[in-house]
Amino acid sequence: MNVLVTGGAGYIGSHTCLELLESGYGVIVIDNLCNSNPKSLERVEKLTGRKIKFYEGDVRDEALLLRIFRENEIGCVIHFAGLKAVGESVAMPWKYYDNNLNSTLVLTKVMNQVGMKNIIFSSSATVYTADNEMPLRETSRTGNCTNPYGWTKYMTEQILSGMSHADKDWSIVLLRYFNPIGAHKSGLIGEDPRGIPNNLMPYITQVAIGRREFLSVYGNDYDTHDGTGVRDYIHVVDLAKGHVAAVKFVTAHTGCEVFNLGTGTGYSVLDMVNAFKKVNDVALPYKIVDRRPGDIATCYADPTKSREVLGWEAQYGLEDMCRDSWNWQSKNPMGYGD
Ligand code: NAD
Ligand code: UFG
Repeated sequence: MNVLVTGGAGYIGSHTCLELLESGYGVIVIDNLCNSNPKSLERVEKLTGRKIKFYEGDVRDEALLLRIFRENEIGCVIHFAGLKAVGESVAMPWKYYDNNLNSTLVLTKVMNQVGMKNIIFSSSATVYTADNEMPLRETSRTGNCTNPYGWTKYMTEQILSGMSHADKDWSIVLLRYFNPIGAHKSGLIGEDPRGIPNNLMPYITQVAIGRREFLSVYGNDYDTHDGTGVRDYIHVVDLAKGHVAAVKFVTAHTGCEVFNLGTGTGYSVLDMVNAFKKVNDVALPYKIVDRRPGDIATCYADPTKSREVLGWEAQYGLEDMCRDSWNWQSKNPMGYGD
């Protein structure tokens, strides 16, 4: 079966393409490369010895999507394409609503037209409200997002679940990712953020490689075991394998199902700093600074539903994630731009 992967050249997309190919699926990618480098797909081909059919273009381009569905027998879509920088979404809300909502609307319009109605969507733990108890279950409260990026994930979930109520032929899986980090063990593919990283792990690796002077730790007065923010970090290869499990599920069911993709374990910023230093034997200067607006103290998943229904659970631990993040960064100091 062929899977159409939107945003397949990106960080999570490229790792998922690799796992799909290794599980025997054919892979077709559409990506406009607005936040990625086509080298990621060349490297996936090198690692797997298999070809990816790549269309460079925008998911909002209806004519191109129709052509892709006409030229290929597609059994399922994984929809990664989207913009994801929280701060930028506050500064440029229209850009985020246009890209993230219209890509889904155009994609599902074309899917409806061609009669292929199996879709897996990249949602996020950001859709959960800040006042939930931990761990977060799929039934925990959602909404009250603090930025346009989060609202696009929330609204897309509403759009897709509404479609599945209206038309029982749709099969929709909403995957709520926690904090993906790490890289494929080869060190050939990994996360390559443009500009100054917003997220913790790429910032850590860029400090360790000497591209940044020190890590700013955003607050040490949270109600956590050491005062720094706690998150559920998940190895990107585990996350990618979760998509392979979701492909099997989505092609065998109808309706709309939500799954958390997390480990169920939370680590603080200082846990991450200390583990990274220890595993990789590198220096990692940091300074405690003010809290970052919008951050919450603690966020981690209850992954029970994914284990019981998808038969998936994370295999990698903190040391693997720190080792593989560093392996990628040290082999590619400037990311794909070397
Ligand atoms: P990424 O930026 O590396 O990948 C997204 C890809 O989509 C990029 O290759 C980009 O060029 C492409 N793209 C964006 N808009 C497009 C469009 N209109 N048409 C075609 N291609 C387009 O990001 P990622 O970390 O791999 O994230 C993948 C998805 O998972 C995103 O939807 C993101 O919001 C979601 N997500 C990511 C995280 C995370 O921490 N990385 C957490 C939760 C959810
Ligand atoms: N942090 C620092 N210094 C940094 C970067 C982050 O101390 O330079 C801290 C944050 O305060 C937080 C933790 O590290 O406590 C993790 O921060 P990230 O920015 O890496 O991740 P977030 O949990 O804030 O958000 C991420 C994605 C969102 C997504 C969310 C849930 O950026 O898009 O996970 O999946 F919605």
